[in-house]
Amino acid sequence: MLYVGVDLGTSAVKLLLMDAHGKILNTVSKEYALSFPHPGWSEQKPEDWYSQVMAGLKELLADADKSQVAGISFGGQMHGLVILDDQDNVIRPAILWNDGRTQKQTDYLNNVIGKDKLSQYTANIAFAGFTAPKILWVEENEPENFKKIAKIMLPKDYIAYKLSGVHCTDVSDASGMLLFDVKNRCWSKEMLEICHVKEEQLAKIYESYEVVGTLKADVAAELGLSTDVKIVAGAGDNAAAAVGTGTVGDAMCNISLGTSGTVFISSKEFGVDKNNALHSFAHADGSYHLMGCMLSAASCNKWWMEDILKTKNFADEQKGIEKLGENHVFYLPYLMGERSPHNNPNARATFIGMTMDTTREDMTQAVLEGVAFALRDSLEVAKSLGIKLERTKICGGGAKSPLWKKMIANILGIKVDVIETEEGPGYGAAMLAAVACGEYASVEEAAAKLVKTVDTIEPDPELTAKYEKKYQQFKQIYPACKGLFDVITEE
Ligand code: XUL
Repeated sequence: MLYVGVDLGTSAVKLLLMDAHGKILNTVSKEYALSFPHPGWSEQKPEDWYSQVMAGLKELLADADKSQVAGISFGGQMHGLVILDDQDNVIRPAILWNDGRTQKQTDYLNNVIGKDKLSQYTANIAFAGFTAPKILWVEENEPENFKKIAKIMLPKDYIAYKLSGVHCTDVSDASGMLLFDVKNRCWSKEMLEICHVKEEQLAKIYESYEVVGTLKADVAAELGLSTDVKIVAGAGDNAAAAVGTGTVGDAMCNISLGTSGTVFISSKEFGVDKNNALHSFAHADGSYHLMGCMLSAASCNKWWMEDILKTKNFADEQKGIEKLGENHVFYLPYLMGERSPHNNPNARATFIGMTMDTTREDMTQAVLEGVAFALRDSLEVAKSLGIKLERTKICGGGAKSPLWKKMIANILGIKVDVIETEEGPGYGAAMLAAVACGEYASVEEAAAKLVKTVDTIEPDPELTAKYEKKYQQFKQIYPACKGLFDVITEE
């Protein structure tokens, strides 16, 4: 049988066709627009996602034996607020995970309702990108839209709804809404009350590897597929990527270098970081995970290459970078504010330390290193909780760069296992579909059978020591700039 994984990302939807043995038969990517209607705001049209998913599915399956397609599942950008009226029309563009407009609502939740209560109800505190503060923002700023809300959904769940007609979500993605009791894997009645949300507006919750329904007849006809094709709940993109890289079971780590950058640590047991700097979410394998998320990771390099240096040739720009651990230039990667660990939508990207002999290569190196230093910030929080990690998997667009992987191994002081497929969320989504269709008994079994490590980058003690010194310097830059960020972002 064949399985389709749909990775609904921020810059594009990436679709993947996998056979029962985990072999990737085809991949297709379709881009869509991302709009920043105001500094720090970030929106997309759910209708664009759907039309590109349909176009992508047609292309993906053009040469496949369509009768063999058994299941479709998803990995999706998390936290986005999608609202539909009672006629199923999208009310306004989706407000995305990296949107920073909800400072006031986030402060209200954290300071008036209180972090202790939020953590008790949901295992997390409020971050500007989470879904609940966005609902409060719509209520306050667009009351007419708020009154019309019949269904609240997350990005990938909008696609599942369009394909199957079932208003569903999964435990990993629901975890990022701040409406979900992560420990008990159900909606939090208290949070629904605080956010003026009715349970009937929310989706039915599934485990990531559960079937939610089958393809609707009109969609099946359009795609040339059977109405027996199963739609499987899927996961938030980070949990899906973790499945796709075999980061399941206890104390395994995956780093994702996508638009966002995440440090994902799987755990058999439920646990909360007492300072809530790391998110405590449900995992797609039936267990839990901790996660640090930086809002701009590979997107920093993309911005630096494409928007500033006006080049598409990322590899060429990295060729001249040789003096690792010796760069005098530092870069704070906060192009969209920052989530973990600073929780500050006003943080901004910064270069510091240039001199007259600073080169283009030094600046590019600083961007790559700045992202790695910021990932280390999340790893440090994990270490402070007593979590010991010797190695990590890696995925996402940035993981294609050998130089960046070397920097990560040495800056984080951790072995980096490179796996056969860097497709991350799309592969994980296809694996979840295969598990739901009975191909594998569990997500862990699928991961053990399908995910293969092909290389390991070992940290070099000399370079790690050099980078340790640099990290200690990097760590001092944000606190020194913090007050200034508030001043320069003032309206
Ligand atoms: C995770 C997060 C991002 C998005 C990116 O909390 O906000 O990683 O899921 O798609």
